[in-house]
Amino acid sequence: MASGKCFLYLIFLMTSACVASVKIGLSGVETPPGPAMFVLGDSSVDCGDNNPFNGLFHRNLSRFPCNGSDTTLLPQLLAKQMKLPYTTPFYSQNGSIDRILGGLNFGSAEASILSPRSRNYQSLNQQLRQALETIQLLQLQLGESTANTFINSSVFYLSFGIDDFTDFFHNNSLGNNGFDFAHILVEQMTNGVRSLYASNVRKIVCAGVVPLGCAPQALLLKSGGNGVRKACLDDVNKVVSYYNRRLEGNIAGMDRQLGDAHVVFCDVYEAVMEFINHPNKYGIDDVRNACCGVVRDGKVSGCVSTEMACQEASTHVWWDLQNPTPAVNSLLAQSAWSSPSLCRPFSLKHLF
Ligand SMILES: *[C@@H]1O[C@H](CO)[C@@H](O)[C@H](O)[C@H]1NC(C)=O
Ligand SMILES: *[C@@H]1O[C@H](CO)[C@@H](O)[C@H](O)[C@H]1NC(C)=O
Ligand SMILES: *[C@@H]1O[C@H](CO)[C@@H](O)[C@H](O)[C@H]1NC(C)=O
Ligand SMILES: *[C@@H]1O[C@H](CO)[C@@H](O)[C@H](O)[C@H]1NC(C)=O
Ligand SMILES: *[C@@H]1O[C@H](CO)[C@@H](O)[C@H](O)[C@H]1NC(C)=O
Repeated sequence: MASGKCFLYLIFLMTSACVASVKIGLSGVETPPGPAMFVLGDSSVDCGDNNPFNGLFHRNLSRFPCNGSDTTLLPQLLAKQMKLPYTTPFYSQNGSIDRILGGLNFGSAEASILSPRSRNYQSLNQQLRQALETIQLLQLQLGESTANTFINSSVFYLSFGIDDFTDFFHNNSLGNNGFDFAHILVEQMTNGVRSLYASNVRKIVCAGVVPLGCAPQALLLKSGGNGVRKACLDDVNKVVSYYNRRLEGNIAGMDRQLGDAHVVFCDVYEAVMEFINHPNKYGIDDVRNACCGVVRDGKVSGCVSTEMACQEASTHVWWDLQNPTPAVNSLLAQSAWSSPSLCRPFSLKHLF
């Protein structure tokens, strides 16, 4: 049984370290490992490094959702606040137990909640499978009790939705079916949280989706780049807000049902709207253009190289077509850590 599982991981992690690691595991770990952070999500959690497919292909077609380093993204900033180790991208490690105990980032810059339409997408379910198999691997190597203590004290951070909504709005005229679509996404996310709970995860952070109706991608696509300069697309924002409210509702319900778990919802939508509505308070002077990403020949092109970036990213709300700048992320992280209004029902300081 154990060697069967091990064999599966051998293929899965494409490593030959498995057999050796099991031996280390069986000999026992003297000091129990400290908690770590595990991340699942899309371009809000990964700079484009964590992709099993051709990196060039990925980056050309898609975005460069940060300036080359995951350390400027929200979950990584929070891990730092919590004094947790830097999370290693899943595809850049070889299954060694030390790396896993430092936390992993299963997130991938193109990732959807629903099953992927493109080969490049890593869906929520694919990432969950990787996370659950990693938990099994830990149980195999450390023993149930040690592994469970590690898992139930570690933080699992989930942030999805950008790619689902972007594809949806791209292909559909906005009608009520946007709300039906959001509802399906919420159900999938809720199931995801439940399956983590079933694998002994007890500290879960679920991020909402930023106001995509104010993001350059939506504004550029809907106005053709030089049409009406509207501040935000209300139709898009209504659907995204609905998703956030439903997800928060489900999470609040779970937090009550699952007595020994702590599930937190972080309302990045409202926080980013605050920057858009009161930019001067935060030293921001551009709330609608991407620092890195443009429209050329009527075509929207994401941040395909950091050389395209503006000089002063910190004066923008948006780094690329859908993701906030490092400066905005850093303000979000401070607030998520200490204020009970961004992450509810309690701050991440409290969660940790
Ligand atoms: C796996 O990576 C670790 C460092 O993260 C390294 O020490 C180890 O030798 C690697 N094992 C294999 C089999 O490549
Ligand atoms: C991506 O860009 C590189 C260089 O910028 C180019 O060589 C490659 O052909 C491009 N790939 C695709 C799929 O466009
Ligand atoms: C975590 O797991 C350990 C080992 O199974 C158990 O003793 C402990 O009560 C669990 N803690 C929580 C908060 O679930
Ligand atoms: C959405 O539009 C893209 C092209 O813009 C197309 O490739 C894709 O098949 C469409 N998806 C659906 C579900 O209609
Ligand atoms: C991006 O990172 C590079 C290298 O670290 C730096 O020189 C550049 O100023 C950064 N650009 C922005 C807009 O932050």
